[in-house]
Amino acid sequence: MSLDVATLRKDFPLLDRKVHDRRMVYLDSAASSIPPQCVIDAMSTYYETTHANVHRGVYATAEEATRLYEHSRKVVGGFLGAPHPDEEIVFTKNTTESINLLAHSWGRKNLTAGDAVVVSIMEHHANIVPWQMLAEEIGIELRFLQVSDEGYLVLDDLDQLLEGAKLLSITAMSNVLGTINPIKELAQAAHAHGALIHVDGAQSVPHLPTDVATSDIDFLSFSGHKVLGPTGIGVFWGRRDLLEAMPPFLGGGGMILDVRTDGFLAANPPQRFEAGTPPIAEAVGLSEAIRYIQGIGIDEIRTHERELTSTALKAIDDQFGSRVIVHGPPAGDLRGGVLSLTLEGVHAHDVAQILDSVGVCVRPGHHCAKPLMRFLGVPATARASFGLYNDTDDIEVLLEGLEATAKLFA
Ligand code: ALA
Repeated sequence: MSLDVATLRKDFPLLDRKVHDRRMVYLDSAASSIPPQCVIDAMSTYYETTHANVHRGVYATAEEATRLYEHSRKVVGGFLGAPHPDEEIVFTKNTTESINLLAHSWGRKNLTAGDAVVVSIMEHHANIVPWQMLAEEIGIELRFLQVSDEGYLVLDDLDQLLEGAKLLSITAMSNVLGTINPIKELAQAAHAHGALIHVDGAQSVPHLPTDVATSDIDFLSFSGHKVLGPTGIGVFWGRRDLLEAMPPFLGGGGMILDVRTDGFLAANPPQRFEAGTPPIAEAVGLSEAIRYIQGIGIDEIRTHERELTSTALKAIDDQFGSRVIVHGPPAGDLRGGVLSLTLEGVHAHDVAQILDSVGVCVRPGHHCAKPLMRFLGVPATARASFGLYNDTDDIEVLLEGLEATAKLFA
């Protein structure tokens, strides 16, 4: 293994949990990652020593809280390669809110009836429903890239779909198939057609190197709780010139320069998009999580998770053959650590229940990706997903649980 997981695991107190008298084997990082002790400590210390509202008080702790909160933008921006973190990193509640911000602010301003937005059938509902809401509200056209039987995006008709489109909004990594999409190529194609590109980075930012500048994208969304940080905070990054031209999404305190009885003047980005008291302790936790990831190295994390994925795919195939389908592409550069499993004749919820009995945490269901599930022809899968703290022992227990399931339903 390329990472010293045994040592790393000591940083994650929740991994010491026992469930049903077994070691807890956490294989649900695609749903939410586990925070290391340093993130928990950073947030506790913040509450114990500093907490105050930001951008309001002039007393010492209020100014310290403001400095910590604003510093988090620099840490997040540095991690993403954002050219202007102070103006381009917007804190939201999660990826879903970030995409709603894009749809409701940029979308309402720039799209009119008949304008096209291109997504794919492998998107999470968070990158479909906000655009469907705009379709209902203003009559935009939503076009879908398809997925091949191997689980890759079908790019043959990309140019045709982008013809006249205003935006391509696409996931960098599927939360069901683990497919890693060619973002730079997609950005070039979108721009060649005069469209902008938004990347849903919820699954990619925690596991793959991200550089918004070199990949030449326009917008990016991701969530704190999937990058070893806390829940309740998400990130929306946009190119400075684009954010400057966007109207506010939510109205209230903190997002204005002035309010009079006859109207308001919006603040500059990013404050323009951060109405109300923001997630301050969460921003402190998120920047600590990113520092922790940087301390290990995102390239090292990717190499480790790539090895784990390839080991797991091979082991499942060796042990179960055609009795278990793992949806998505084969191991390799275009495959992330997400294994959506179908056991012949067994419902995904039953698989997950039996895995739970041996301590394995996986997510059963449609994974908020119903168009993709319809394409796959399954109502649900049992999804095991890796984080940097997983190792081959975890794969062994997963196999043990799958064997027990197969026997029970044989
Ligand atoms: N989006 C998260 C998942 O795929 C919750 O499980």
